Formats: sequence, C-alpha cells, structure tokens
Amino acid sequence: MTVKSIIISRPDDWHVHFRDGDILKTVVPFTSKFFGRAVVMPNLTQPVINNRIAKLYRKRIIDAVNSEHQFSPLMVFQLTDNIILHELVCGFENGLLTACKLYPINKVANPYYGVTDIKKIYNVLSVIEDLGIPLLVHGEIYEKYVDVFDYESEFIKYVMIPLRLQFPKLKIVFEHITTKEAARYVLDSDEFVAATITPQHLMFNRNKMFIGGIKPHFYCLPLLKSIVHQKALLDAIKTGCDRFFLGTDTAPHLKIYKESSCGCAGVFSSPIALALYATVFEKFDMLKYFEAFCSFNGPKFYNLPVNKNFIMLTKKENIVCDSIFCCNDKLIPFLAGEKLSWSASVIK
Ligand code: DOR
Ligand code: ZN
Repeated sequence: MTVKSIIISRPDDWHVHFRDGDILKTVVPFTSKFFGRAVVMPNLTQPVINNRIAKLYRKRIIDAVNSEHQFSPLMVFQLTDNIILHELVCGFENGLLTACKLYPINKVANPYYGVTDIKKIYNVLSVIEDLGIPLLVHGEIYEKYVDVFDYESEFIKYVMIPLRLQFPKLKIVFEHITTKEAARYVLDSDEFVAATITPQHLMFNRNKMFIGGIKPHFYCLPLLKSIVHQKALLDAIKTGCDRFFLGTDTAPHLKIYKESSCGCAGVFSSPIALALYATVFEKFDMLKYFEAFCSFNGPKFYNLPVNKNFIMLTKKENIVCDSIFCCNDKLIPFLAGEKLSWSASVIK
C-alpha cells in the first residue's frame, strides 16, 4: 500500500545555524513554521559563550519568529579554553542554556574561539557531566596527517573514546554523523550517547557532489561520504534505536560565499527539511521510524516533553524554490529547483 499522508507530533530540529542580522530574520521562519524547538548553534562571529550573549541572541531569534508560529529556540554555549564555569552553571539552572558545543578548533565557520586541548576543560566537563548538560560534539579531528574523509572515524579513536573513559556519564550528542564507524559507535554505546543525522547524509553520498561538475551546495562538514557509509546511516535508523534523531544542520551562507573558488561549508536545508526526511524515509522503507526520529527520540534524550500539535506530510509534488533574496544576494536552498514528492503542512 502506498502511503499518501502522515501525521506526526510537531518535530524538533536538534541542530540548526540561524546566523544573525538579516540572514537570521530570513531563515528563522523556515524552521519555526514546522518545528517546536531547535537547538541553535553558537558559532557566530561573536560566539555564544556567556549568558548575556545567549539572552540577547535568543531575543533576536524570537523577534524573527512569525507570530503564528509556536517555537522555542534552545540555546547552546560554545566551549572555549576559557569558558567561565559559573556562567554555564547559572545559564543551565536558569533554564537559558540547553547544551554546550565542542567544535574542533580553527576549522568551523568562526575559528577564533574553541578548545585547543580537551584536557584544558576537564574541570568543566566534570561539572556538565554532574549536571546532566548535553555535550554536543562536532566529531571531526582536523589534523594535517588525516585524510578529509577520515576526520570523523579518527575523532572516535583519538577524542571520543578517551573522553568517554574519563566521563562515562557525560551526555553526548555525536552531531551529524556520517560514517559507519560513528553509527556503530553510537549503537554500541549506552543511554549517554546519541546522534543527529542530516537529510543530506541519508539521501546522498559523495558521488553526488563530484559527478558532472563540482556542486558547492552539497559541500558541508562533515563531508558526504561513500555509499557504504550512507548505507550504514540508513541501517542505523532501521535498527529502531531511539538514540538517533533529527538534526538538519541547516547552515545558510550567501550565494557569493558558496559559489566561490574557496566556498563555505554548509547546506541550507530548512525550507524543505521535513520533505527531505520524508522522501528518504519512504525511499528506504523506514517510514515506521519516521515519527520517533523526528518527534520522540530527541525530547527523550534531552529530557523534554514531546511537542503538542501536529504536522502533516503529504505525498504531493513540491518544487524547491530556486533562491531566497537576502542581504542584496541570495540564499540557495538545498536541491533548489528540484522536484520532491513530499510536502509538509501545519495542522491548525
Ligand atoms: O557544513 C558546516 N557548516 N559544518 C559545520 O560544522 C559548520 C557549519 C556552518 O556554520 O556553516
Ligand atoms: Zn552545524
């Protein structure tokens, strides 16, 4: 029997980049329309590293939400060598802070704030382990001697395993996993380790980025991997494990910075995120796990209630718009101009 429509509890996006200024105003409504909450990445030009910055940023996000949308941003601190512990504890206890983010130093969008050696923040990790604050990990090791396609699997060996030996009860979200090694690692872990998976890493492998010309709108970090790894991510979802959940990693950059001789990493997927997930879950016969992946597994891991209200996915033609005007330039949505076979709508 072919499925024509699906109704699911309003989902959450556990990994978004909203940026700031006019980009923020442009992109927030694409997420707030369909998602109840989103975990907002802190890697701004001035990263989110204390409560004052987090509070002001949260307000700018809320101001950008359309008044009909029911949406709460969940704020994240970026960990640095000098993160102030009492800021973190206060932020969490006051309900402003949901999680902390660990980026590899020097390679994400804004490289100036980060952790140079994880041992330097062991005292912080020990406190966030005790408080149960989730640590969101960009699981790649950027070293000159490591091949770009092995950044994630090497990260597991050199950072993740020692980290978990030191802090076995630290709640960790292994963000945007892309490899069979990461999928296996999460499956073999306990209730303290979960992972987000993006739509692009489920739908495509690296051939898509290279065949017929280089495609900058498929360039993100972690990179798309080979079909073996794509399949391992799909298989991980098919186990029904409740520690995999939706995180688009929607990461808008203006067209001039994407279509460039040195282009930025990031896929801007929020305008069609749910349709993408529905497409890939149907294609690979995983629809029975769709609602849990989108709406239940994330809240369970973060100890939050499932959203009230519902979203409908309908099997009908959905042409992705070519571009969205922004900052005297454009944002190009993922799969711009292509035809999807699912559309999302809000049930009032
Ligand atoms: O593709 C990516 N884009 N990966 C990241 O880790 C950062 C993000 C961004 O901020 O643009
Ligand atoms: Zn990200």
